[in-house]
Amino acid sequence: MGFEIRNVCVIGAGLMGHGIAQVFAMNGYQVSLVDISDDILSKALEKIKWSLGKLAEKGVLKEDVESVMKRIRTTVNLLDAVRDVDFVIEAVPEKLDLKNKIFAEIDSVAPRHCIFCSNTSGLPITLMAEATKRPDKVIGMHWFNPPQLMRLVEVIKTKYSSDDALRTVFELSKKLGKTPILVNRDIRGFIANRVYGVIGNEALLMYLRGEAEPIEIDAACRYKLKLPLGPFELSDFTGSVDIRVSARTLMEEILKRYPEWEPHKELLEFENATFKLIKERYDKGLLGVKTGQGFYKYPEPGKWVRPDIPEKYAEKTDPLEVVAPAINVSAWLIKNRIVTAQDIDTALKLGYNFPMGLLEYADLIGLDNVVKVLEAKAEKVKEPYSAIYNPDEFLLTLVKEGKLGKKSGEGFYKY
Ligand code: NAI
Repeated sequence: MGFEIRNVCVIGAGLMGHGIAQVFAMNGYQVSLVDISDDILSKALEKIKWSLGKLAEKGVLKEDVESVMKRIRTTVNLLDAVRDVDFVIEAVPEKLDLKNKIFAEIDSVAPRHCIFCSNTSGLPITLMAEATKRPDKVIGMHWFNPPQLMRLVEVIKTKYSSDDALRTVFELSKKLGKTPILVNRDIRGFIANRVYGVIGNEALLMYLRGEAEPIEIDAACRYKLKLPLGPFELSDFTGSVDIRVSARTLMEEILKRYPEWEPHKELLEFENATFKLIKERYDKGLLGVKTGQGFYKYPEPGKWVRPDIPEKYAEKTDPLEVVAPAINVSAWLIKNRIVTAQDIDTALKLGYNFPMGLLEYADLIGLDNVVKVLEAKAEKVKEPYSAIYNPDEFLLTLVKEGKLGKKSGEGFYKY
């Protein structure tokens, strides 16, 4: 890399953007923070100041609040903001046309060496790269909420990204105190959300097939896997019913334009299988905490209390039943060199607070046992979506070679 990143521009000062700007400023970078109104920008500055104050109280801020605040300048003039920066990250609303327009506009003004990143969770960054004349310098940099506290950053390579730009963003993430993982292909959902999504979807399918009630699945995940929340609790908390309904049309439109965004076709079929249930719950207003009723009932709309899930409900359900398809999808990702086993585990530990990586768990349980559970599901479930249960050839090869996990000294990891 022939330059050092000193000046950065964060476009969008909302939930994510203001937090991202704060992290840059705390780490010594000069930040231009852009939004569409001075009012939004001054609210963002207030939030940053408040958060810095909290960090100072805890003794984790290396300098005083004012010194950090001085590194952030705000403006509504986008072109002005990028004229002299080495790095741009956009965190504007999830609309492809808006993101493309912004990247196309700043492309003619930002220095030639400047890298453009997108914080999108659900849009192809490859299409944003195509909106510029510097596609090699457009990278995905996916933060988690709240950016000030969450350590995970997914660094995503598009069809056009240069290794140099990718490495620069990866190293930059480390300098910001984050733990980056490398995603070698611009795929739908990247890693943490994609792999966790398989767990959530299988939980729904087990419920639909009458194999277990939501409370039993959640109990097994809470008490046996030690996850902070089971998949149904988490769905209520994040409002994933709502998110899935609104993301679906967008996803279908994008896939028409850019089919490579979803290279694992069986995964689409698998997700489609739960959409009818999701839509029914959406139509009934069962959105979770937001409406006061989801898979669990809450005291009032918007008020979250931890659902009461007694441990006895965990007895019947083997949590491997819930996570085996996600282990299988992980094997597919590794086989296709999209991500390493270790990075999948990092994504789930840091992005979803898993106490242990999914693949560490698979190794512990034994990959032969994972294959058995998958084969039993493939045998039992005669639906178009059951192709997702066919054990991936990477998983089968490991088992054939006697790499069964911890008990044999090697599985996804070496021991
Ligand atoms: P938000 O709605 O809180 O913030 C977006 C901000 O962009 C608003 O302040 C808005 O005024 C501003 N904006 C709109 N048009 C603009 C323009 N033309 N120029 C400059 N600023 C403009 O949204 P949020 O939640 O911060 O999300 C931003 C991006 O981050 C989205 O792509 C989202 O998918 C992604 N993301 C969101 C996460 C979350 O938990 N909310 C997590 C990870 C990624």
